[in-house]
Amino acid sequence: MAFLKFPHGFTWGAITSSYQIEGAWDEDGKGLSIWDTFVRQPGRIERGENADVAVDHYHRWQEDVDIMAELGLQAYCFSISWPRVMPAGIGKANAAGLDFYDRLVDGLLAKKITPFVMLYHWELPQALEDKGGWGERDTALAFADYAHHVVQRLGDRVTYWITHNEPFVAAMAGYFTGEHAPGVQNPVIALRATHHLLLSHGRAIQVMRSELPHAAKLGIILNLSPTYPASERQEDIQAAERYDGAANRLFLDPVFRGEYPPDMEAMLGPLFPDVQPGDMQTIAQPLDFLGVNYYSRAVIHHDPDFPIIQASETHPKGNEYSQMWEIYPPGIYDILVRTYKDYHPAAMFVTENGVCVPDGVDFDGRVRDYRRIRYLRDHIAQVHRALEAGVPLQAYFHWTVMDNFEWAYGYRMRFGLVYVDFETQKRVVKNSGRWYAQVIRQNGFDPQSVLPL
Ligand code: FCB
Repeated sequence: MAFLKFPHGFTWGAITSSYQIEGAWDEDGKGLSIWDTFVRQPGRIERGENADVAVDHYHRWQEDVDIMAELGLQAYCFSISWPRVMPAGIGKANAAGLDFYDRLVDGLLAKKITPFVMLYHWELPQALEDKGGWGERDTALAFADYAHHVVQRLGDRVTYWITHNEPFVAAMAGYFTGEHAPGVQNPVIALRATHHLLLSHGRAIQVMRSELPHAAKLGIILNLSPTYPASERQEDIQAAERYDGAANRLFLDPVFRGEYPPDMEAMLGPLFPDVQPGDMQTIAQPLDFLGVNYYSRAVIHHDPDFPIIQASETHPKGNEYSQMWEIYPPGIYDILVRTYKDYHPAAMFVTENGVCVPDGVDFDGRVRDYRRIRYLRDHIAQVHRALEAGVPLQAYFHWTVMDNFEWAYGYRMRFGLVYVDFETQKRVVKNSGRWYAQVIRQNGFDPQSVLPL
């Protein structure tokens, strides 16, 4: 295979999320988030870990920005902790919380790294959860007000804005399976949460459009799963269709078509949320881009025991797996092409892609994470293929900059380009970081090239 060159102006970045890296959980007037509460409940997180300190990015942000500059990142996507900015979720903003993000934006710009700012990566203020959280419509209204406070402070310097990260996970892991904060297990609330998350997206976009300069670029990030039936059997094909409906179309259809997928409405019937007149138009605001997160595919079989959708994942044998998921590079091509064909977003970014493998520091201080390099090489090659197929991809973000707190798994799962010793907070650029830096410098890569020692 020849050198894979990316188009001029293609942006290479990396992404983090506030709770997973910041620490400083109760500093400078920050309020509690649902994660601060959740991690304190016994049995929720492996080994009882929490992100009170995480990788101390709140205090070490300058060092982290310096490392990003050393890697040559052209863009950095980070999320804002809602309760750091608005401790009670509504009402008064906390100037000290906004100051942190203000300094970070300036620090990035000083290094010529373009900030992409995301409003919500799962940190709902606990004060709002106490009133029913995403199950309540008022939370969507509060979100729009929060967006207002953030854009007023950072809007003069930030061009790229994202409302939500993975509303599917926020709704389903948060309110249906209960694996994530706030740990609720109720399908009715999960569907209400889905609608209110989407509504909050639309309302926040309206606020940002009216308050930000014309040049601002606004979008949302969805985790999309290319879905394949586990067999040729009709019941598996139909199960895969239902899974695709719940995981992908339940979010894509409202955002891009202003309606819920008819098969989902029919299937979910009486559980379906109370959609008020005008809601769907609000949700379907014109967007400048769609961010797609991809890690793996979903292979689905009919499962009468799985509530409501009667569809479950199988894990095919014979492929490589990481600590969390099957490794399936063509999936990223399939989902990018399909999403563009069916929904035609104005532009698309890969906003998360990466892998967790058990990294370790070698005798000479290097982290030789060749499996991650291979994962990146194989997935970025598929991204290139999607570009050639006509998908308007403008950026690729690696998840993540440095190892961090991986939600219910605690610190066991490492996804970074930078290794972190969680005891000492020492950062070491992994070989994948060096490899990615070279991809950025060359705006592409030679699939045959020698791996960095
Ligand atoms: C995504 C999340 C991100 C991280 C990766 C591994 O679903 O958005 O925070 O946990 O998975």
